[in-house]
Amino acid sequence: MDEAKVEKALRVAREAARRAGEIQRQRLRQGHRVEHKGTFNLVTEVDRLCEEAILEILRAEFPGVPVLAEESRPDTRAEGPLWVVDPLDGTTNYAHGYPMFCCAIALVEGGRPLAGAVYEPLRDEMFSARRGGGATLNGAPIRVSRTAELSNALLATGFPYDRHQQPETNLDRFCALTLLTRGVRRGGSAAMDLCLTACGRLDGYWEIRLRPWDVTAGALIVEEAGGRVTDVAGRPYDYSGASTLATNGLLHEILLAALAQPAPHGRCFG
Ligand code: IPD
Ligand code: CA
Ligand code: CA
Repeated sequence: MDEAKVEKALRVAREAARRAGEIQRQRLRQGHRVEHKGTFNLVTEVDRLCEEAILEILRAEFPGVPVLAEESRPDTRAEGPLWVVDPLDGTTNYAHGYPMFCCAIALVEGGRPLAGAVYEPLRDEMFSARRGGGATLNGAPIRVSRTAELSNALLATGFPYDRHQQPETNLDRFCALTLLTRGVRRGGSAAMDLCLTACGRLDGYWEIRLRPWDVTAGALIVEEAGGRVTDVAGRPYDYSGASTLATNGLLHEILLAALAQPAPHGRCFG
């Protein structure tokens, strides 16, 4: 895809994310139907309303480009361009009125994101990036933090919806890093955790068992803000969300080592 088209895609991604954010803001206090997708996994009518509004904009501006969106989930394995959409990231927060949620939209080609936008409606913050073009927050360039020591670091993580069913819960790593850092936040929105890392409010973030729509836009924004993104074992990032470690770069190797060494049982559960 040529430069001009990627630039247009970024503009359209921002427009669609902002539209979804407006819906989220308007509907927050009005009450909305909540359904269960699984024991802990919720979906609200606002997730669906946002997705419909986004798809209408993307299809009008880029007819024929397929869309992988969380709630409609067409089975899309496009070789060419593909939109990847999380209409509402942080649904559990949204359903409880906890103020941490956003909309995330990325354009991917050949498995690599070219453009991404994440909009947080309550603070009116638009994070976005174009591959090779840097990352911005409300139009101003952003950079990752300069924190180089774990003891000075503020991190974030999350826990998968199927944590009650799978042996790997991430609790051991959460415990280990809580003992080594200023703190580990569980914000409840992967896309926001990535953007907060990109703009230096967090120094790093990791999570397992996410999906492409959770991470693709945010991972590009971290990379374009000068950060580094791999899986939690240090392998090249594939944007699947299966395993994600995003840092300011300075902390990357240190965090890889710490994540590989969960805290001794007694320090966590003693
Ligand atoms: C969730 C959020 C959360 C993460 C979950 C994700 P959703 O996305 O990003 O922070 O821990 O596992 O699935 O369901 O709110 O779009
Ligand atoms: Ca999500
Ligand atoms: Ca979602």
